[in-house]
Amino acid sequence: PADAVPQAPEDALFGLMRAYRADESPDKVDLGIGAYRDDNAKPWVLPVVKKADEILRNDPELNHEYLPIAGLASFTSRASELLLGPSSPALAEKRVASVQTISGTGACHLGGLFLSKFYKVAGASRTVYLSNPTWANHNQIFTNVGLPIAQYPYFDKKTKGLDIEGMKRALADAPDHSIILLHACAHNPTGVDPTLAQWREIADVMAAKKHFPFFDCAYQGFASGDLDRDAGAIRLFLELGFELVIAQSFAKNFGLYGERAGCFHFVASPSSNATEITTRVASQLAILQRSEISNPPIYGAKIASTVLNDKALFAEWKENLLTMSGRIIAMRKALRAKLEELGTPGTWNHITDQIGMFSFTGLTEAQVLKLRSEFHIYMTKNGRISMAGLNTKNVDYFARAVDKVVRE
Ligand code: LMR
Repeated sequence: PADAVPQAPEDALFGLMRAYRADESPDKVDLGIGAYRDDNAKPWVLPVVKKADEILRNDPELNHEYLPIAGLASFTSRASELLLGPSSPALAEKRVASVQTISGTGACHLGGLFLSKFYKVAGASRTVYLSNPTWANHNQIFTNVGLPIAQYPYFDKKTKGLDIEGMKRALADAPDHSIILLHACAHNPTGVDPTLAQWREIADVMAAKKHFPFFDCAYQGFASGDLDRDAGAIRLFLELGFELVIAQSFAKNFGLYGERAGCFHFVASPSSNATEITTRVASQLAILQRSEISNPPIYGAKIASTVLNDKALFAEWKENLLTMSGRIIAMRKALRAKLEELGTPGTWNHITDQIGMFSFTGLTEAQVLKLRSEFHIYMTKNGRISMAGLNTKNVDYFARAVDKVVRE
């Protein structure tokens, strides 16, 4: 029967990572996968993570036992506070069910699976609306659990900013009760976020249409450098009384990429039986989790929990976040300045207007492929660059290469 299995294409992003690693050119530049790099293009273990690691390793009680099905409670509870705020009414009213997941991907999957089983509003479409463009994995995560997907406009090619009118129109035209995937902050791949006023407009349309918000929050602390501000959209929707879910990743903001530390949160809207609903949802999430991964991995969660539960370490984590977001902002400025200095055709203000880990450069697929073949520069075909791949040593080289391919 395996004879019938067709060859699948390689994952574009991980294929890019493999190609970069195999490239022997000393000039090669990795602007592909969204992973932070220091000024020497090296992975950066956050100093606060090193400290937490040492604390754990020196703990004579450290073992490798199973976590409960829903994960490490000291981690998931602080993770929910980080998103909702420590004085969140939803937390006080016990309207939040949190489950530790295989990072953000696992959280999106668990959320998708849960919705595919239980999101059954009479007459509702169950379609998940994704921003155009979005993180490529969203498409297959939701498709794989049997939910139909559709797109809403997001990026305005002309302004290289947000197409707020197009987005609102599409949300208004979608069938009532649609599931709307929203990037909480630092939109991937565009680096374009709605302002708080625009989030309010989006929320108004969604409330009128009774849409269901599914937030993906993979970059808290990377957009503004301020954890609370980066949770602003989620907190606004909660204030407005939405029932919603959140996929939360600690890969980027803790640099715990391979440890797969994340959470899925369900928040019930305020009602007299909200706590009871939440308990029932948690019980179903536990069944799904058990059948898929039994219980989540322990080490990354322990690292994050150690930091999140200690005042001094938490303060140090915020400093580490500023180091990362600050270096990225410096690279945005350097790249824009260099392109403007070279007189590269086009406008380049979007490089500094966009925020977070990525910039959507506007380079065409042909230009991207030329950058790869002629300059050993690796970026995704849609023109996205991971800003963290730029540093004081390669930003000139990159700008000159861009200048060349844009002029050809
Ligand atoms: C990215 O978009 O580069 C990251 O989110 C990594 C991933 O898993 O795709």
